[in-house]
Amino acid sequence: MSFYTIAFKNNRVLMLDQRRLPQDEIYLVLRTPEQVARAIEQMAIRGAPAIGIAAGFGLALAGLELSKVSDHSEWWEKFGQALRRMARTRPTAVNLFWAINRMNHQAIISRDLSSSERAKLLVREAQNILAEDIATNKKMGKNGAKLLHSGDVILTHCNAGALATGGYGTALGVIRAAKEQGKKIQVFADETRPFLQGARLTAWELKKDRIPVTLISDNMAGWAMRNRKINKIIVGADRIARNGDTANKIGTYSLAVLARHHGIPFYVAAPLSTIDRACPGGEKIPIEERSLEEIFSIRGKRIAPRGVCGWNPAFDVTPAGLISAIITEKSVIKNPNRTKIRNLFTE
Ligand code: MRU
Repeated sequence: MSFYTIAFKNNRVLMLDQRRLPQDEIYLVLRTPEQVARAIEQMAIRGAPAIGIAAGFGLALAGLELSKVSDHSEWWEKFGQALRRMARTRPTAVNLFWAINRMNHQAIISRDLSSSERAKLLVREAQNILAEDIATNKKMGKNGAKLLHSGDVILTHCNAGALATGGYGTALGVIRAAKEQGKKIQVFADETRPFLQGARLTAWELKKDRIPVTLISDNMAGWAMRNRKINKIIVGADRIARNGDTANKIGTYSLAVLARHHGIPFYVAAPLSTIDRACPGGEKIPIEERSLEEIFSIRGKRIAPRGVCGWNPAFDVTPAGLISAIITEKSVIKNPNRTKIRNLFTE
């Protein structure tokens, strides 16, 4: 690919600053766990898998900062603070907590080593999370590409591409895989108010990859379906409950309702690390509410009159019954439900 989302070099985290795209391609160089936590909160990096990877590297930096601390209780107290700081960054994407647990587990199993040896293993674990994510996306892409055919025009929402992952993408990974198989695919991208991930990021990423993309504003989706401009929808996910209910970027639910009305298949592409088996249903998924500035203003320019109220939920939940299939690295589950999701982990 002509860009990378996140990397770890010379004990620094390098991260493409997604707030500046598409105008500027600038990499942040982060040296401390706190800098990584802020980058996640302020959405310099975003997208569920990428948030998890960033948290992993943030905790690797914490391990490096503590590599000269030989007192065990001091080490664990400070590492615990870093774990809790990462966990406070964004509440909805379960990949964050999945990656934090994995890093904590790595620290626990290397507790008898020196702090500097433990730091090396934490760095290696974070690098593994990144490499595995790319491999997972490629498998998911291959599984999902079977659902796509030459001539398909696919609507996607937000950005579930290379920018939202370690690379290749989930929803956009499926589209990439279909293209690699020689299928002719076109993409419609919703602009995705208020943060404009579709207009700024998906359009940028697809253009870079020479995948034909048509940008529409969110409120055009229903009319595009009515006019047979699109014939499939693929989105990513931030958290899938064990009954298949799926949290994703605000606006996803509306698309699923519209898709059902128009008889259009609605697919969710997500790795197993996005499935939260401890969560019984969508009503239990925590939904992040972000600053009202994001809806009162567009890129720093105020558009709403002062003194009005606002509401800014960053995600919504699509009930499993509206999802035609969930595409994972293991298999494609059609008409997802509790039993099929349980079998995904046991078979
Ligand atoms: O607020 P964001 O940009 O982090 O939201 C991202 C999404 O909703 C994505 O669709 C989701 O994380 C899947 S990314 C592969």
